[in-house]
Amino acid sequence: MNDSTLMEKIVSLAKRRGFVFPGSEIYGGLAGTFDYGPMGVRLKENVERLWLRMFRDDRDDMFGVDAAILMNPKVWEASGHVKTFADPMADGKMFNTMFKTSVGAGEEASTVYMRPETAGGIFTNFKNVMDSMHPKLPFGIAQIGKAFRNEIAPRDFIFRLRELSQMEVEYFVQPSDWEQAFEEWRKTMHLFAEAVGISQELLHELEVPAEDRAHYSTRTIDFEFDYPFGRKELWGLAYRTDFDLSAHADASGTELAYLDEETKKKFIPHVIEPSFGVDRTILAILVSAYREDALGGETRTYLALAPRIAPIKAMVSPLLKNKPELVAKAREVRAALKKVHPAIVWDDNGNIGKRYRRQDEIGTPFCITIDFETLGELPAGGGSASGGKDTVTLRHRDTGAQERLTVALAAERIRSAIE
Ligand code: GAP
Repeated sequence: MNDSTLMEKIVSLAKRRGFVFPGSEIYGGLAGTFDYGPMGVRLKENVERLWLRMFRDDRDDMFGVDAAILMNPKVWEASGHVKTFADPMADGKMFNTMFKTSVGAGEEASTVYMRPETAGGIFTNFKNVMDSMHPKLPFGIAQIGKAFRNEIAPRDFIFRLRELSQMEVEYFVQPSDWEQAFEEWRKTMHLFAEAVGISQELLHELEVPAEDRAHYSTRTIDFEFDYPFGRKELWGLAYRTDFDLSAHADASGTELAYLDEETKKKFIPHVIEPSFGVDRTILAILVSAYREDALGGETRTYLALAPRIAPIKAMVSPLLKNKPELVAKAREVRAALKKVHPAIVWDDNGNIGKRYRRQDEIGTPFCITIDFETLGELPAGGGSASGGKDTVTLRHRDTGAQERLTVALAAERIRSAIE
């Protein structure tokens, strides 16, 4: 399969199976916008939840915020975005890619920007978090939210968007500790890539040369991914020094310093910033997980998603939908499994093979089927060796292999796979 075919197949699967739809589609779309559908929104939430767990909740030195998208325009003057957040246009002029809108009515109206990075709302809350939580250095603030960039050429599906989501950490350290923190976050970023199932072979680090770094950065590593359309930036890890806090302190007249209780010295902390685009992460996950193979003599497509981020954890179905005893038993099994995780779906549409294929395409790791053996009605020949009343078949997505086990064991299989 060549790369453009692969990309077409991913875009088509994403639409067909409810992951990602073109934005405003019935009106012909709006360039640079996409909408997440029923499966996509679950995938996105699972990625964000896992990120929050790894970057905020499993640690004692991290705090969350959810800042407003609209901010006082002075924020973006101080941060340097009004002056430098620009891309060259075809005729060589620079074009500032921040979106503008206005707040208020009539004479009172004033121009504001839609934030181009979530980081802005973190720096402006540095003092609030310090004053309310009293953290000791090093500590960090994490945020997930939308950011907006009026990209001159949005392209490549959800890779280059005008409305995007970011997951960002600003980690505040003693100036002398920046290198150690940089290395630690670098490792955590790799652990996150592994946890969401981004292929290690397709992931590469690029030490960004000085002339290509953002205006605020002294060192940046780009985490690049081999997308079907080329090797491109997936995430960034930047050392932003004290650039932002100093700039906001100067421009706002508010002291943004940390007082070291032991040495009684006040200083402006330095910042390490691991920054993730959610949409680029989703695309890298889809590219890493897309598979075609032959199963039972038929070709099939499936997504080998990590079970913990798969939109649906398991599908439960009665072998035949016109047998009330089977349906009732299957409903009971589904209710029991839903206690393990809410994303356990019901499907009794079409034949069992079709149901499996549908689940394969959305990356559901397990399918559970209730048949006559479950009811204790053994087929002629005596059923399977490990079978018997109250056992079900559990089918594994990647191999298509099926095993016969108790409902309790099936629940355990799901529980341990999604941990
Ligand atoms: N706060 C730092 C910052 O915003 P960036 O490299 O400009 O740095 C961070 O953006 C991440 O946001 C990128 O690594 C990428 O994942 C994502 N991103 C940036 N622009 C994007 C766009 N137009 N569409 C989708 N994702 C984008």
